[in-house]
Amino acid sequence: MSTERMRVKTLLVALLVAASFASAPLSVPGQKTSPVAPSRQQVEAVVREAYDKFRSDTSGKNADYIPYLAQVDSKLFGVAVVTTDNQTLSLGDIDYSFSIQSISKVYTLALAMQELGADKVFQRIGSEPTGRAFNSVPAVVEMPTHTGNPLVNAGAIATTSLISGGNADEKWNKILNFYSKAAGEKLTLIDEVYKSEAATNAGNKALSMLLAKYERIYADPFESVDIYTKQCSVGVNVVQLARMGATLANNGVNPKTGEQVIKREDIPYILATMTMAGLYDGSGGWAWHVGLPAKSGVGGGIVAIAPGKGAIAVFGPRLDEAGNSVKAQKVIEYVARKLDYNIYSPSSVGLKGTRQQP
Ligand code: DON
Repeated sequence: MSTERMRVKTLLVALLVAASFASAPLSVPGQKTSPVAPSRQQVEAVVREAYDKFRSDTSGKNADYIPYLAQVDSKLFGVAVVTTDNQTLSLGDIDYSFSIQSISKVYTLALAMQELGADKVFQRIGSEPTGRAFNSVPAVVEMPTHTGNPLVNAGAIATTSLISGGNADEKWNKILNFYSKAAGEKLTLIDEVYKSEAATNAGNKALSMLLAKYERIYADPFESVDIYTKQCSVGVNVVQLARMGATLANNGVNPKTGEQVIKREDIPYILATMTMAGLYDGSGGWAWHVGLPAKSGVGGGIVAIAPGKGAIAVFGPRLDEAGNSVKAQKVIEYVARKLDYNIYSPSSVGLKGTRQQP
């Protein structure tokens, strides 16, 4: 490419990035829901730094056990932050709809708790780390609860089976509608992802039959797997995903619509579950290094929650061995450290003199 064309291309990219920030809704300057939330300028600067630092990272590889995901362009990269006072910052491939995959499990858990109450969900699913891969069969056999927790495949399929409805379509529409309320926009199924996954999900069907053997699934096993497969195939872009996260950060109230989507009293249970298992067998290292409740999906998304402040969502399809987006982990770790988001750090709630070293 000639130097002149490269200069024009760089200028265009810079303009697009600037336009993406400029189009974000600005609240009254200085108005913040949380007294310890960083300013918009701080967040903007740090998110830009992280975006530039990691945009050419090529480590990890796309999920390939779902054929559709193997074909997604691995270079796609988007970052979004939505704050509890509804400010939005976004960079990169922000309009691309990727499949939400396992991040959906968090919102089906929230819906199940809304319908049954937290105690019943805890009894029927449990909340213990499996220490194994997200689709582990031995975990189902060996764990006393069999279901493990609502964020591994077995526990998530069982959680989906708790959702009530006259038939499968009613249950599915209720789930999709609930996700849409959390996102503050109508979400839809990516049909190609659903078809690709439905044709290759014998492993999840096997998990559901094992759960049936232990009487730890609460509706027809294959119907539950099918609804679960649909929920994993819902499309989101990074801004929608960050807003779903911000709804959790904002005590269950969607910061855009003002609607109480998730019950306020369920938020601590959900965030605790995300901390314990949101990144599967990578959750311990994540808690150590980042200290934020988060959830990943094999579609390449991760959303992390800074309670009372907001959420950051990152999309990058290349995954590590545990099934977590490599780029998303790096960006979120960088941003969380720079902005003192770690919930275990006393400075995250305003104590002076305790700031983490970046
Ligand atoms: O059931 C599956 O295997 C996928 N639909 C979801 C797995 C997933 O996203 C694990 N995430 N990191």
